Amino acid sequence: MDMTGTIVGSEQPTLETERLVLRPLTPDDAPAVFRLYSDEAVTAFLGFDALKDEEQAAEIIREAIQRFEERRGMRWGIILRQTSDLIGTCSYKRWEWARASRAELGCDLLRAYWGTGLMTEALRETIRLGFEVTGVNRIEAMVFEGAERSVTLLNKLGFQLEGVLRDHGYLNGRLCDDMVFSLLKREWEEQTGDLA
Ligand SMILES: CC(C)(COP(=O)(O)OP(=O)(O)OC[C@H]1O[C@@H](n2cnc3c(N)ncnc32)[C@H](O)[C@@H]1OP(=O)(O)O)[C@@H](O)C(=O)NCCC(=O)NCCS
Repeated sequence: MDMTGTIVGSEQPTLETERLVLRPLTPDDAPAVFRLYSDEAVTAFLGFDALKDEEQAAEIIREAIQRFEERRGMRWGIILRQTSDLIGTCSYKRWEWARASRAELGCDLLRAYWGTGLMTEALRETIRLGFEVTGVNRIEAMVFEGAERSVTLLNKLGFQLEGVLRDHGYLNGRLCDDMVFSLLKREWEEQTGDLA
């Protein structure tokens, strides 16, 4: 479907899975987003320092809202149905609508919920939206060297490692390599076809 059909001119969609609701971030999420990004274990591979105050979280939310308004991407708060708490985020950024039709995936989860499969669950639905609703053909992910949990997660979702960009990233005060992963729509269709 053409991206103008569903996404542009409408609200950012809310997604639902068995255990989660993924909804657009709102200014009221600032305390929860601050809690998420004030943990150095969470920010270690995100490319920014752990947050020191809630205003920084409010700025992240404003940027997310603006990014959707300008149709440059989408970011969801990941809400655990059981508690209604925001426990992470996932996003598309660097969205290229025309011709190339690709977007870059990002995600993060409160440390207490790592190892529970929740991010796999969230991203399966995010990827489905990307390919089925918005018409994206390629979803990519840039991962800093050493981010092993991200590599495991992307492999599990069917992403392929395409290559390594040497000294492309900057993490914790030094240059580092970036790994480039991608999943193409036709590969995802094969995967989901296999599951059916
Ligand atoms: C990257 C990140 C989101 C991965 O989270 P995660 O908890 O490893 O991912 P999942 O929620 O899919 O959980 C997978 C784990 O849950 C286990 N699991 C339990 N139940 C599961 C289920 N129903 N389905 C899938 N996995 C399940 C898996 O075996 C796996 O465990 P393991 O890590 O011990 O092998 C998380 O580490 C994070 O937020 N890191 C900080 C931010 C960051 O680096 N983001 C990525 C930048 S590129």
